[in-house]
Amino acid sequence: MTRNAVVVAVDGPAGTGKSTVSRGLARAMGARYLDTGAMYRMVTLSILRRGVDLADPEAIAAAADVPISVGYDPDHDRDFLGAEDVSAEIRGEAVTRAVSAVSAVPAVRARLVELQRDLASGTDSVVVEGRDIGTVVLPDADVKIFLTASAETRARRRNNQNIRAGLPDDYPTVLADVRRRDHLDSTRAVSPLRPATDAVIVDTSDMTQDQVVAHLLELVEQRSGAVR
Ligand code: DC
Repeated sequence: MTRNAVVVAVDGPAGTGKSTVSRGLARAMGARYLDTGAMYRMVTLSILRRGVDLADPEAIAAAADVPISVGYDPDHDRDFLGAEDVSAEIRGEAVTRAVSAVSAVPAVRARLVELQRDLASGTDSVVVEGRDIGTVVLPDADVKIFLTASAETRARRRNNQNIRAGLPDDYPTVLADVRRRDHLDSTRAVSPLRPATDAVIVDTSDMTQDQVVAHLLELVEQRSGAVR
């Protein structure tokens, strides 16, 4: 079957510039863009609002079937829970603190993975961003990219974001937290964060976001030419 659409998986930890770069890549390709982290965040928001105990995976699983709808365009990506636009709230502190517990529950992952496969299966090119896209969600993606950056670089970026958001300047604590989350993410039982064997690993530590987008675009052009 001939297919002109190109499916790109972009995985990697937080602090690599993954969201900005994935969106920039989608824009440059004229592709759709799917932020799977937003989906985990929406389920988490709903669970927090219902007062579900985050230490109870069964209760989380039972409350996970909520009507989420994510933006699917790099320039208009509003995220809705039912009819409510929750784009800002899902990126707040409370959700960020709770999302790891929710995304570790297998039933939550199973439901969202199915939804993600559905959304990515159209005839348009798409850039899908997450942690397990190349390994679990779309193992047949045409191009798989795994973004990395040193723990120090990611901590510096996050600390700068915190300062801009009015939070205290505390690089040592942020660095310790980045290292702790790296360990948790790469050792968790379900879908641990690791590159697919056929992913191209791109270290963004010493690159600007524009440089990363240009590099990824080159990779997509090389590789998608080869798969067509
Ligand atoms: O990329 P993000 O920070 O918005 O992701 C939010 C959380 O969801 C993060 O803790 C990792 C988790 N996540 C996941 O487990 N699998 C994905 N495909 C995407 C995100």
